[in-house]
Amino acid sequence: MKIAVPKERRDHERRVAATPDTVKKYIAMGFDVVVESGAGLSSQLPDELYQAAGARIEVDIAALYAHADVVLKVQRPLLSGEGDLDELALIPRGALLLAMLSPYAAPASVSSYAGADVTAMALEFVPRITRAQSMDVLSSQSNLAGYRAVLDAVYEYGRAMPMMMTAAGTVAPAKVMVLGAGVAGLQAIATAKRLGAIVSATDVRPAAKEQVESLGGRFVMVDSEEVKEAETAGGYAKEMSDEFKRQQAALVAETIKSQDIVICTALIPGRKAPVLVTDEMVASMRPGSIIVDLAVEQGGNCTASRPGEVVEVGGVKVVGHFNVPSRIAADASALYAKNLLNYLTPLVNSEAGASLRLDFEDQILAATTLTRDGQVVHPAFADHK
Ligand code: NAI
Repeated sequence: MKIAVPKERRDHERRVAATPDTVKKYIAMGFDVVVESGAGLSSQLPDELYQAAGARIEVDIAALYAHADVVLKVQRPLLSGEGDLDELALIPRGALLLAMLSPYAAPASVSSYAGADVTAMALEFVPRITRAQSMDVLSSQSNLAGYRAVLDAVYEYGRAMPMMMTAAGTVAPAKVMVLGAGVAGLQAIATAKRLGAIVSATDVRPAAKEQVESLGGRFVMVDSEEVKEAETAGGYAKEMSDEFKRQQAALVAETIKSQDIVICTALIPGRKAPVLVTDEMVASMRPGSIIVDLAVEQGGNCTASRPGEVVEVGGVKVVGHFNVPSRIAADASALYAKNLLNYLTPLVNSEAGASLRLDFEDQILAATTLTRDGQVVHPAFADHK
């Protein structure tokens, strides 16, 4: 059985879906692994390392995909009209496609996978159950994004983060506020603390309080009965009522005035990101303050953020980098590749060479499989048949 690992072709993408370490494991399972030449370069993984791990390097993209049984990708393949190449058309019928397919952002692509008779699995839908923790791509990538967001803020910030008492005077510690204390937010809190900042955070899920406090952050939250219902069974946040939003806006407005750095990480799966920082709040911050909006590609938590840009509004810099995990590509690729390996391993029967045994009733496969046998099978996309 053949695994194909193409170079990522979407803009701002530096990651790769397999590393020499995971290639070795696939080969030990009985797979042939073919990696497109240059696929790992932006993650500091030259072709020679893949070759040394036992992969074949392929320059020709059509040959790379030909007869592939499994295609490992980071982002969804380019479709007809999206670039110079129709990657989906190159994937053999019946092949397994594993990637972060962003089906909510690109719902029409789901029917294209069905039309191409590809078994498409969206790794971001891996359920948050104990058995699947090592496959959780959202966690592995958000954790690095939260770390990188703080470093991106520090890079733009014209001052020091920790308190410094020197003969020439005292440097005050930076005040950092983190909006959304999920995986990215908690790592942002930990990173800002390590750099010596005074950190506060807010969330709609009460469970976040203890986690924020255990990292040394101060938790501020709207005092409302509604928060008891704010968390879904999957551990995610729900959209809140207008009354809650009003109270939260008042709380953020009051706190943000005195902050030097704000890291926005709040998301609601399948929806536009909640707006938490308005233009008025940005205007209330001191010149030189920094806002990093990790939610910018989902519509943004801050009304002033612009995708892919660092904008300055009244002296406040608002950072909206694309694809933040990709800004720390070597580690992001290593963890993502490991997530894919952990996802694929239980699906492989290695007894007489590798073969796949797919139990679509299994909770993890049922949650992640978008299409198979030419049909859209995921209930969230039934309308896109
Ligand atoms: P996410 O990326 O969907 O959202 C980020 C954060 O924003 C969340 O904490 C969410 O509550 C918060 N948020 C949403 N709307 C908000 C608003 N209006 N105001 C303030 N904050 C808002 O979530 P993420 O980071 O992927 O994970 C959420 C939780 O899932 C984790 O904290 C954890 O409890 C749980 N989890 C469980 C795992 C497991 O059991 N395997 C693995 C990873 C996370």
